[in-house]
Order: sequence, then C-alpha cells, then structure tokens
Amino acid sequence: MEKIISQNFFDLLVPNIEIKNFPDRDVYVRIENAAALSGKDVDVYHRLYPDQNSSLIQAIFIAQALKNANAKNIKLIAPYLPYSRQDKITLEGEVKSSEIITNLLKFAGYSCITTFDCHFLKKEGEFEYGGIKIKNISLSSLLIKYAKNKLGENFEIVSPDAGANYMSNGKSMKKIRGEYNIGNIIYRDIKKMEIDFDVKGKSILVIDDMISTGSTIIKAVENLRNNGAGRIAIAATHGFFLGDSLERLGSLCDYIVTSNTIQQTGKLLQASATSGISKVNFMSMVQ
Ligand code: R5P
Repeated sequence: MEKIISQNFFDLLVPNIEIKNFPDRDVYVRIENAAALSGKDVDVYHRLYPDQNSSLIQAIFIAQALKNANAKNIKLIAPYLPYSRQDKITLEGEVKSSEIITNLLKFAGYSCITTFDCHFLKKEGEFEYGGIKIKNISLSSLLIKYAKNKLGENFEIVSPDAGANYMSNGKSMKKIRGEYNIGNIIYRDIKKMEIDFDVKGKSILVIDDMISTGSTIIKAVENLRNNGAGRIAIAATHGFFLGDSLERLGSLCDYIVTSNTIQQTGKLLQASATSGISKVNFMSMVQ
C-alpha cells in the first residue's frame, strides 16, 4: 500500500505531493511519478479543514490524479469530515450537506473514508453513507484516559446531548437549542440545558465530538457548576475553539483535552505548550 501525504498533514507525516494555487486561488495538484502508482492501493492523508471548500477540491483533484495513474483502491484518511452537522433537512429548500459531500468524494474515486467521531454517524464502526464506506473511529477512550491524569479514577462522564452519548457510555444532558444569525452566519444557540442526575461534589468529565464556538460545552459546564459539581474537565475530539471560547473555557473548567484532528496553530498550540490543554494524537488509532 502506497501513501500520498498532503501538505496539510505536515505536522504528522512528510508531504509527497504538490498542492498550489493559481493567482485567482484556483487549485493546482500534482503527484510526481504518478505512473509508479499504477495498479497499487493508495491511502491519501489529507485534512479537510481548515478551508474546507478548497480542501475538498484538493481531495477531488488528488483522487483524479490517482485514477489517471490507474491506482487501484484509493482511500481517504480525513480526520475531520466537514459539513457533517447539516445531516438532515429541517426547513423546506435546505440541502443535506453531509450526504452531498460524501457523494462527491465517492464520485471523485475514493472507496473509503477513514475519519474520527463523525457527527452524523453517532457511533464507532464501518458504515455505508452517501454511497461510500466510512470507517468511523472514536477517540473517546483516549480522551478519557488523558482526563484520568487530572481527575483521578473517580469521576462521572457525561455528554452535552444524546448525539454524543456513545462517547460517555450513554449518559447525557438534555439541550434545548435555538438559532440566530449575525449577518449571514448561522449560530446554533443553546437556550437551556438540563441534567437529570446528581452531580453535587462529584468530579465530572464532559465529552463531545466537537467544540466549535464553545456555546454547547460552556452551557454544559455552567450548568454543572450551578448544580454544585466538583472538578470539571472537558474533552472533545475536534477542537476548533472559535472566537474566545478557549479563554472562556480555560477560566470555567479545570482541564481541557482535545486531539490533533484539527491542526493546532496559534493560541491553541501555545495553550498545549504551556500545558493548559492536553492533546491526543489521532494517528495512534489509524490502522
Ligand atoms: C452538536 O450536536 C455537536 O455534538 C456539538 O455539541 C456542537 O456542534 C458544538 O458546537 P458549538 O461548540 O458551536 O456549540
């Protein structure tokens, strides 16, 4: 099996393809010595975030270059699958983005996507979705192991909603969600969160598939604090930490664990370096 490594995996593996842009930002992809891949199985390591739109085009072009070279079984290792949250049509005229993206990757030539804690799958395993095989690996056991370093052996695990309760062994809060727009950006607002179990004095780990704006997990932690919880750690596979969420969470909880599925740059990298945040390496779970 051969490996194609994209530049956006440079923090973990040595890139071996060319990805560039034309002056107008059109994408250019080239696989040097592509002919040598004829008849071979190829695993493509390529992140689909940040810049999800151009990263998806890059993924499509990489698959086409491999098809042109007659590569055999082309698999994509994309640690975070973008557009995974719009997985149903709620309002007339919307589209199911999750399915369109997986269709597109299948059409591009990938036979399988390996990804982590994929939002719409809601459990670990192998699935057929949007015409393609998806191997969904959960980082929950690794995240929990890291949290144990700080919370000790005795703590309860809870997810902020039922969607991620496969990560917390079934225990979840109940969230009541709203939505608001600022300009043309849609924010998912958490109006209320309910807990139906006793947390008083207990150490708690709140675990979720992702922290994006932080709105969900911040509400969850505030709720636990109001209900008298003891030490609180939070863990999420995909740590976007948009806006000032990292700072806010830093002051609200005792410990933060995430992974490197989202490449860590800037303040996130700094926080890992100063041990304000622990980072699980998803590569240890790629077989
Ligand atoms: C929602 O169902 C997800 O599992 C996450 O809880 C959510 O997407 C996190 O987004 P945010 O950090 O913006 O609340």
